[in-house]
Amino acid sequence: MDKKALEALLKDMTIEEKVMQLVQIPGSEYEADAEITGVERGQVKDNVKRLAGSTLGIWGAKRLRKIQEQYMKEHPHHIPLMFMLDVIHGHKTVLPCPLGQGAAFDPEAVRKGAEMQAREAAADGVHATFSPMADLCRDARWGRIMESTGEDKLLNSRMAAAMVEGYQGKDRKDPEHIAACVKHFAAYGAAEGGRDYNNTELSEHTLREHYLRSYGEAIKKDPAMVMTSFNSINGIPATGSTFLMKKILREEFGFQGVLISDWGAVGEMINHGYAEDMKDAALKGMLAGVDIDMCSGCYSTHLEELVNTGAVSVEMLDAAVLRVLNMKNDLGLFEDPYRGCNAETGPVITEEGRQLAREAVAASLVLLENKDKTLPLRKDKIAFIGPFADTKRLQSAWAFSGEDENTVTVWEAASEIYAPENRKVAAGCTMMDQDAVTARGICHVENWQQENDRLLAEAVRTAEWADTVVLCLGEDSTQSGEATSKASLKLPAVQRDLLRAIRKTGKKIVTLIFTGRPLELEEVRDLSDALMICWLPGTEGGHGVMDILTGKCAPSGRLPVSFPYTVGQEPLHYDVYPTGRPKPVNGPFEYTSRYLDCENGALYPFGYGLSYTDFAYSDPKLSAQKMTDAETITASITVRNTGDRRGGVTVQLYIRDVTGSRVRPVRELADFKKITLDPGTEETVSFTIKEEMLRFWTAGEKWASEPGKFLVWICNDSNDGQPLEFQLVKAKGE
Ligand code: GLC
Repeated sequence: MDKKALEALLKDMTIEEKVMQLVQIPGSEYEADAEITGVERGQVKDNVKRLAGSTLGIWGAKRLRKIQEQYMKEHPHHIPLMFMLDVIHGHKTVLPCPLGQGAAFDPEAVRKGAEMQAREAAADGVHATFSPMADLCRDARWGRIMESTGEDKLLNSRMAAAMVEGYQGKDRKDPEHIAACVKHFAAYGAAEGGRDYNNTELSEHTLREHYLRSYGEAIKKDPAMVMTSFNSINGIPATGSTFLMKKILREEFGFQGVLISDWGAVGEMINHGYAEDMKDAALKGMLAGVDIDMCSGCYSTHLEELVNTGAVSVEMLDAAVLRVLNMKNDLGLFEDPYRGCNAETGPVITEEGRQLAREAVAASLVLLENKDKTLPLRKDKIAFIGPFADTKRLQSAWAFSGEDENTVTVWEAASEIYAPENRKVAAGCTMMDQDAVTARGICHVENWQQENDRLLAEAVRTAEWADTVVLCLGEDSTQSGEATSKASLKLPAVQRDLLRAIRKTGKKIVTLIFTGRPLELEEVRDLSDALMICWLPGTEGGHGVMDILTGKCAPSGRLPVSFPYTVGQEPLHYDVYPTGRPKPVNGPFEYTSRYLDCENGALYPFGYGLSYTDFAYSDPKLSAQKMTDAETITASITVRNTGDRRGGVTVQLYIRDVTGSRVRPVRELADFKKITLDPGTEETVSFTIKEEMLRFWTAGEKWASEPGKFLVWICNDSNDGQPLEFQLVKAKGE
């Protein structure tokens, strides 16, 4: 539909029709088995169901086509209903959870993965996904860290931008692409205490320099939507914040798409103590520029009255409705309301899709220890032990449209490689401790102790038979994701008991950790011969893990988030400020910024990961020792594979601004490049340092660089390398 026709449609709509375009209702209003991802607020009225502009949480080509047919018949202007769904890391072919995708440090792979997700979701009638989640996460206690790509603003920026490109493609009318939604705006990951939905207290410069960056970079890729976050920021709920939604989002980021609230977030401004009642909440949502109210009922109940009394102008209402109509029009829904639904078969999992997922799994795995080159596995007798050894539940809580039965377990993949006489499997213990609390409630197992005694005895016998034990441990997928904050990062006690028992057998132990968040792994490190993080790897989890364990692929993953010694260090991140009393690498430590009982830094730092081969690095070089804002400096290093296996390495460029009008982090990731080298070969990796990489939110309250000394590292992780120096002799605008 062209612009004039759209405006004529808007003009012809009643106020009630306009209001309902700004209302999203749960999919359960149309289908019983909808995925409910929020707090339900009772049945919606008939007129709301008949006129609501969009729904969420349902999928399926045939059933969505049927719903659309009925809806279009009944709608006075036959405006299509929009179907939205959380396709976070897979619709049918489920990829590694986003934190695992972040570990691959490969935005192009992430873009391709998002493209596949869009293709599968569109074939099931889905028009929009609530992804990418671009929240910066420095706190492993926050269960939603699993949905992020980690603690670094540059890595998150590149990943979120790649996801928007993958979901939306070049033309949103393309029925194999869907609308993207950048969330949760903003700084949801900075919840106090790591407790979900909690307040965030952030200075404007921390908000701008760290937390807003990835949303801003993703918005440059023109996503159809942005979603507000549940949290309040400095005392104002994000969903009602004109500073965030008008000044930052609309004016500074130039976002012109649809702003949708998170589930119930408009109404939750009452709980925050920011809105008097639902009518006041509806007013505050509209004044902040929230276009669609997801499932709170505030707009459907009070917005028409607010317009009739003039509290909300018709112009403001029309502007919001036009943004929603434009979004539907950009998807071609007026020409084809059944876009994507035509695929009678719906999405099918293809071999090509499985291969893409398998490669994504292998690239996501992070090898943390490999003592005496325990890995790759030799053709020994291998025992696969642990609750993750043969479970199909390898996808996150946010992959609910994927089916577990499509997942390849570690044991199933191993059974394709090892002859029956050389492989055994044993669960070893229950996944969790008795009465563990999960997002789905309390996990209670009948005869739990008796069952674990049996499982443990069987596991020890199995280990005694084997040469090597692959011990598959971790955190159940229902213990990360939304509303799963934890005050402890320990593995379940029953799993730690299993590890200690297997250690006593004296066998080689390769410990695999399946998890949606960093965990405390010091004891696991000490009792294991090899240790690898497998995240929540999804449909091709078993194959990807075995490809690495057998050496078919070399591990190349790098940590997108710091792993702590203890939860007491959280929030933990590498790009900290130096303080006035930095703790020196070697003593004396008195009167310095340190813990009496723990290291300051991470057990395993951001950017860390091992390979099966060895690399030698030349001395890093800078093409010049000074630059103006109009010039650049090339930083380079030559990497050589000195081992006997092919290997991948992510060369990282970090920069520190030594003196500024505000204190500056000890280092910040400024670029990264992933390369793969065959044995005996080398490659020179170069980075271009530009003035814009040196900018920050200055004490003058503006985004600028400042002249002075900078340090540069080209290295392997955020703890590695010796710095070089250069001077910025003239900043922009000087
Ligand atoms: C949830 C989540 C959000 C999701 C939305 C719709 O509460 O916070 O990430 O996209 O509701 O399911």
